[in-house]
Amino acid sequence: MSGHVRHLYVHLPFCAHRCGYCDFVTVVGREGHHAAYVDALLRELELEGAALADDLETIFLGGGTPTFTALPELVRLLAALPAAEDVTVEANPETVTAELAAALRSAGVSRVSLGAQTFRPELLRVLERVAGPDDVRRAVHHLRDAGFDNVSLDLIYGIPGQSATDLVADLDDALELEPEHLSCYELEAKPGTRFTHAWGAELERQADALEDYFERVVARLTGAGYRWYETANFCRADAEGRDLRSRHNLDYWLGRDYLGLGIGAVSTIDGRRWRNTAGLGRYLAALAAGRSPEREVECLDDDVLARERVMLGLRLDEPLRVDGLRAALDPAGLERAERLGLAVEAEGTLTLTRRGRFLGGGVTADILA
Ligand SMILES: C[S@@+](CC[C@H](N)C(=O)[O-])C[C@H]1O[C@@H](n2cnc3c(N)ncnc32)[C@H](O)[C@@H]1O
Ligand code: SF4
Repeated sequence: MSGHVRHLYVHLPFCAHRCGYCDFVTVVGREGHHAAYVDALLRELELEGAALADDLETIFLGGGTPTFTALPELVRLLAALPAAEDVTVEANPETVTAELAAALRSAGVSRVSLGAQTFRPELLRVLERVAGPDDVRRAVHHLRDAGFDNVSLDLIYGIPGQSATDLVADLDDALELEPEHLSCYELEAKPGTRFTHAWGAELERQADALEDYFERVVARLTGAGYRWYETANFCRADAEGRDLRSRHNLDYWLGRDYLGLGIGAVSTIDGRRWRNTAGLGRYLAALAAGRSPEREVECLDDDVLARERVMLGLRLDEPLRVDGLRAALDPAGLERAERLGLAVEAEGTLTLTRRGRFLGGGVTADILA
């Protein structure tokens, strides 16, 4: 390995069950394919590995449900991946046993991101989740017992039937587990899906409440001492001075190159972006024959890259350096945003104000050329 890419994403698509709201590349069950899939991932790594630097900063195993992958296969994969300073694995609470937590820890995993979503049993049923609230708590305890000192919880708000009181109770329940990091996502319901069909009227009724819910999330978590470092992400200030932001995602928001392995995985390297086929059969067949999987390839010119840098960079609480990005900015839109108290430009940097961050994408769209 002698390239410059320092971030590796590995997609593990298998899930026990498909949750109604999920739009990720997932495959239900297929236990018979887990070993072949890990073989294929390792072959893809061999084919693409030259892009990677010798010293990787981050590896992120995302899903799907990485921890639903047969444990010996998951351990074999982790052992074969290059070393990295931070190795994160996404996990579903019901899969986290004491055995799994210990196996991840001894395989060098440094951080686990748990999909809690909500602690209200009736809302977990709406989301068609397998885990109950106690599974989330048990999972965190197993991870702590195994020595994990960097645990993140994902929550979703805007779930059909969720009241403001439910949301505050979810935040309280999450905080009680003292996670180092929290991601709080507004529920995205894709038009035309089974979920949207089933819950459309309630989703529409709730749409007006979402801004208020977002403000409650930020108020409760910042009030508890968490840093609102990205639109949907919060981290604890650490007593030992560790930076507890999600390193892998941070580098993505900062526009760094990354290599993605697995079905549906995206890579962005040197202004070229490609997405692997989402078809499991095609992916396995290509790699078994020693070929790269089918891919959609896009060439990103400087304009596109600069716009992405602005869009992603303004999600962060740190000022975005705008030298080199001027062509992507609309001076009139920028002036308007400043006048309305939504953005501040100073010393060659641009930052959204607190109010600007709540309005988020709308403000950024106005600032972009
Ligand atoms: C790649 S997903 C899968 C993680 C894991 N399999 C799980 O379900 O917990 C990572 C996170 O994205 C969020 N997510 C997934 N689908 C979403 C949706 N439709 N709207 C908002 N957030 C979503 C969830 O919080 C989830 O934990
Ligand atoms: S477990 Fe996670 S990845 Fe799998 S279907 Fe549910 S939300 Fe999607």
